[in-house]
Amino acid sequence: MIADYDGDQLGLIGEIRVADIFRCCRKGLLCLTLFFGLATITAAAPATPDTGGSERVLVLGGTGQLGRAILSELAATNAQVSVLARANSDRTSVEALWPDRSRLQWLTGDLLNAEEIDRALAGHRFDVVINAVRVEDGDIHFYEKIMPPLLRNTQRAGVRQFIHHGAVGAGRNVEKFQNLGWERVPGIFDRLKDQGIGEDLLRGSGVPYTIIRNARIYPPESPATGKAALTEDDSIITPMTRADLAKLTLSCVANAACLNKTFHVQDASLPWPMRRP
Ligand SMILES: NC(=O)c1ccc[n+]([C@@H]2O[C@H](COP(=O)([O-])OP(=O)(O)OC[C@H]3O[C@@H](n4cnc5c(N)ncnc54)[C@H](OP(=O)(O)O)[C@@H]3O)[C@@H](O)[C@H]2O)c1
Repeated sequence: MIADYDGDQLGLIGEIRVADIFRCCRKGLLCLTLFFGLATITAAAPATPDTGGSERVLVLGGTGQLGRAILSELAATNAQVSVLARANSDRTSVEALWPDRSRLQWLTGDLLNAEEIDRALAGHRFDVVINAVRVEDGDIHFYEKIMPPLLRNTQRAGVRQFIHHGAVGAGRNVEKFQNLGWERVPGIFDRLKDQGIGEDLLRGSGVPYTIIRNARIYPPESPATGKAALTEDDSIITPMTRADLAKLTLSCVANAACLNKTFHVQDASLPWPMRRP
């Protein structure tokens, strides 16, 4: 049932709003990168080998599976990368991606602990934040709790783009998916409500945002199909791989065409259903 969609094979619908460009320009340095990037970067393209310079990128959830895939792409760019992780997170696989440690900085903090986040991010400046965390223990107030301190620090740190990995069905988007049997999944509607609160806090923060809503994700070792694309059609739901998600994420870094947009991922090449990772 879920796989019965017949959406177009859309790449990024690169509708570029002049207001987006001027909003970025008012905010400073990324303007030129954003402006000149317009003609060439699409979300369906492979990850850009160079993010346009040496953007300072903060990755949340970098020790997780999606986070690592994103970091693996970032390691091939000139970006100055910081990873925020909890004190007990396993950092070894991330460090293996950076033979040259001078471009990787660790910050320590639990996103559920506002004081730790204030302390960890104090005095730092970032151009882009990428949030690839996954909610633990089915906490139905996770985003409601983590976003206010995170966004406060993000604003203070001068962030010009917050790329947020969320979920298909977040907030009112759930209304688009009424006949998929989600009511059989315990707690799902509370979690999607929380996802919606997180998205709304981000949209209301004034920080330019890119929301990428994930749906069913293939097992971590699945290679990129190269067929995934971002679409603003919020009725699309297809499975995807983390490898493709990582490439789509990178293609949105410092890309004006991705600013203040909420995307779903469309990959018609992957069958559904498949076993859960
Ligand atoms: N629908 C699906 O099939 C499906 C399946 C999987 C994932 N997803 C989505 O894909 C994205 C990433 O998932 P994933 O499976 O790649 O994640 P994952 O491997 O479980 O990694 C989660 C990351 O979040 C971090 N994290 C969790 N709570 C935190 C906290 N309180 N403070 C700081 N960091 C915290 C973890 O840190 P530690 O290293 O310290 O644990 C880890 O780095 C999410 O958007 C998720 O919802 C969807």
